[in-house]
Amino acid sequence: MSATLTRGRLTVDVRLTPDQLKATLRRDVQGGLTATPKTIPPTWFYDDRGCELYEQITRLPEYYPFRTERALLRRSAGQIAEAAGASVLVELGSGNSEKTRELLSAMQHATGGLDGYVAFDVAEGTLRTAAQAVVDEFDIEVHAVVGDFRRHLSAVPAGGRARLIAFLGSTIGNFAPAERAEFLGEVGALLAPDDRFLLATDLVKPADRLVAAYDDAAGVTAAFNRNVLDVLNRELDGDFAPERFTHVAVWDPDNSWIEMRLRSDAATTVTLRRLGLAVRFADGEEVRTEVSAKFTPAQVASELAAAGMQAVGLWTDPAGDYLLTLA
Ligand code: AVJ
Repeated sequence: MSATLTRGRLTVDVRLTPDQLKATLRRDVQGGLTATPKTIPPTWFYDDRGCELYEQITRLPEYYPFRTERALLRRSAGQIAEAAGASVLVELGSGNSEKTRELLSAMQHATGGLDGYVAFDVAEGTLRTAAQAVVDEFDIEVHAVVGDFRRHLSAVPAGGRARLIAFLGSTIGNFAPAERAEFLGEVGALLAPDDRFLLATDLVKPADRLVAAYDDAAGVTAAFNRNVLDVLNRELDGDFAPERFTHVAVWDPDNSWIEMRLRSDAATTVTLRRLGLAVRFADGEEVRTEVSAKFTPAQVASELAAAGMQAVGLWTDPAGDYLLTLA
């Protein structure tokens, strides 16, 4: 189902309605909490409170990825824009489009110029506000797609102009490996010969730095992690006691990812009334809430190649913590 609205130079294509989003939550939680081991997909962290907590995370001294990416984009956006030669920016998971501005203004000043911006996100309210702000600031055509980039990539308009499709934030790290391959395959299939794909990835580094970034001293990440239980309580009429779950962050070197979990401090049964579901937790049992994969440049290149794409530009920060790849 889709609806299109035109307001000034902003068009909005709703591929995912609030009802569909809630149905997805119910399916995810029903499946995840009846599986062994238990999981809750990271998508559901981001209610208003979760977004606020994530913003606090981005300001933590231990959490380097956000500020590293922002500085890297600031420094390299001009080169990226020239190398991409596109006049339309498509951003998957655009959020509040904050870091996008670096790319948009670089494209505006680059040879190809800037004609349009396509913002793609699941959060309709944030997306509309961010898209309107870009219309006002850049005076370009903006198309907002309310959708899940794992399911609705076909909603990205073609239109004949060269596109730069950006996937920032190292969000690719939140996919399981099979999902990652599938997603990259879909992006590869979407690209016309003149289109380019810009992929941001956090790089492998010593475990202590990685763990600190996901288990900060002030306990903000712990609050962010537990907040997902409040989301489930509210949306699914549940009775989780979030304070009885401990935040756990571990580095898994075999999978090359940070895993966040919530560990039940006692044996307990949680009821989610809207699902008609009672979930038994053993004492110390953990539910996995997120993986955040860390890459090597070679791994990124080989995963892109497997999806039919070739790296044509690489940008990294002086410390080698973070990588932007143009393919
Ligand atoms: C927004 C997905 C990039 O994986 O680092 C931050 C989310 N989780 N702290 C990440 C997150 C815990 C973040 N991403």
